[in-house]
Amino acid sequence: MSAEAEYFSKDFEWETLRQEIENNPSYQYHLLPFTDTPSQQLEIQASEDSEAWKRFHHRHSSGKFFKERRYLLKEFPELVSCKEFSKVLEVGCGNGSSVIPILRGNKDIIVYACDCSSETLERAKEIVHSSSIFAVQNRFHPFFCDFAFTGFPKWLVCDSCIESLSLKQQECSTDVKEGGVADKSGSYLSRECGCCIGGVDFVSLIFTLSAVPLKKMSPAIMECFSVLKPGGLLLFRDYGLYDMTMLRFEQEKRVGFREYMRSDGTRSYFFCLDTVRDLFAGVGFIELELEYCCVKSLNRRKGKSMQRVWVHGKFQKPA
Ligand SMILES: C[S@@+](CC[C@H](N)C(=O)[O-])C[C@H]1O[C@@H](n2cnc3c(N)ncnc32)[C@H](O)[C@@H]1O
Repeated sequence: MSAEAEYFSKDFEWETLRQEIENNPSYQYHLLPFTDTPSQQLEIQASEDSEAWKRFHHRHSSGKFFKERRYLLKEFPELVSCKEFSKVLEVGCGNGSSVIPILRGNKDIIVYACDCSSETLERAKEIVHSSSIFAVQNRFHPFFCDFAFTGFPKWLVCDSCIESLSLKQQECSTDVKEGGVADKSGSYLSRECGCCIGGVDFVSLIFTLSAVPLKKMSPAIMECFSVLKPGGLLLFRDYGLYDMTMLRFEQEKRVGFREYMRSDGTRSYFFCLDTVRDLFAGVGFIELELEYCCVKSLNRRKGKSMQRVWVHGKFQKPA
């Protein structure tokens, strides 16, 4: 599918798709309520989830499994129009499908990128460094982190800066600049101010939240909220309810309501707008944009039309 095709977002109405699916007897099992797993298993499940992703990346280590998301800057133009040396945290970066267009589209932006697989981080480094991107060694900072299980490291924003940021916006990041951490040439050395980098201007969650168990999503989003500077943006894109890939899951792959586990142990949740709205508003975000992207694409080999549904959203931390 071309970048343009992925960007056009209204090939069909989501409401029409909803009616078709909900009235089709062969899809009824997707709509049934689901009995919860015991809450005491939650912690174990969370670490099992990242183990499954580690195995996934190990199996796909030779190829560039995720292709570059060339539509990303059209969906999120603020990544281009933002102030010099803005900082982005790409959560669950995989091998850099979203990192590359961001670094390429804005030569002053600084990208921190985490994943729960060190193998994919190594691969991301190789791909990013071989992509002839301006001053990439100073602007790309990958690090290992399971954000849903352990949260983010304190060097992104420490407790005292969280406090002072909420009292007085930008105080810490001014200290960071005065300390010579970011300069005009775009060179950037993190953690030189002694405490932390003072939070980030953007967090991107691109097809990562759906990999987190539903019960862990709210604390995981809270983590994203806490590393954002006041007024910062969270950029969200993920699987939407009744996406073709959801309807392909067999009944035994259901592990929750709208939650499925693939044979390799990685999971996928399919979001409706209300769930996204509740999750983000629940931790204090202001909703700026939230919609379904509905795209028809043709599988040429099988001659079949596929209905893809994604959720696109922008949320702001209050200033
Ligand atoms: C579908 S990929 C998306 C990759 C990338 N964001 C993109 O735009 O293509 C999901 C990524 O999230 C990572 N991931 C899943 N759960 C995670 C967690 N709890 N903490 C950090 N990364 C996680 C996986 O290893 C995988 O690389």
